[in-house]
Parts: sequence; C-alpha cells; structure tokens
Amino acid sequence: MLNPHNVQPFPEPSAADILDRQHSEIKRKRQNLRTSIIEGMGMDQIVACAKDLIDTTLEHFRSEEHAMEASRFTGLTGHKHLHAEMIQSLEEIWGELEHRKISTAMELMSFFDVRLTYHLDFEDGAFEREMKNIRNL
Ligand SMILES: [Fe+2]
Ligand SMILES: [Fe+2]
Repeated sequence: MLNPHNVQPFPEPSAADILDRQHSEIKRKRQNLRTSIIEGMGMDQIVACAKDLIDTTLEHFRSEEHAMEASRFTGLTGHKHLHAEMIQSLEEIWGELEHRKISTAMELMSFFDVRLTYHLDFEDGAFEREMKNIRNL
C-alpha cells in the first residue's frame, strides 16, 4: 500500500514551465484549426476551433504578462506592446470570422503560422531565458 509520507512531492512547476506548456497548447490548437480546414469540417467546426485558439492565446498573453510583472522583467513594456498589436489583429480577424468565410479562417491560420509562431519561438525567448537563469542560480 502506498504510504503518503514516503511519496516524494513533485517539484513546483516554474513560471517558465507553465508558459512552455501554454505555448504547446497554443500550437496544438493551431493544429486543430489546420485539421478542421484541411478536412473540410464545415464553418461551424472551423469557427469553434478558431475561437478556441484565439481564447487560449489571449489567456496566455495575460498569464505571461502577470509572470513578467511578478518577476520584474525589464522588457515588460515592450513585450506588452507586442501582445497589444497581436490582440488587435486577432480582434479584427475574429470580427471578420462572423461572416463565416473560409478565407478569413485561412488568414487566421497564416497569422498563427507567421506572426504568432515567431513570437512564441523568438520574442518570448528573452523572458524565458531570464526566468530559467533565475531558477538555476
Ligand atoms: Fe508566450
Ligand atoms: Fe509573449
């Protein structure tokens, strides 16, 4: 029988681990949107996938900014500005998606493929490296 006193606790996930997980979730949901378009699942399904992807991304921007504030990241103001620009693009695309055109879904897909992927893979890097360095000190 498992003795709870002998169980080693999992180490607390760091903010960097949480943000990495959120990035993976965004990429997984981007893949869901791509699949819904490629497999011609119909606009209801495509719009649902698009909404899920946008909501997850906006939620991630909020958590990331909180983590940056909490750790007094020096690049916070500039990074918030990058997020604000992307939020504006996402709001415009979401407004267009109400017309339920496949071309808008494709536009959202290319926004994620180009702009958002660059952000997650490169522009977020400075903060992630800073947090990982602090944790490893
Ligand atoms: Fe991020
Ligand atoms: Fe970011």
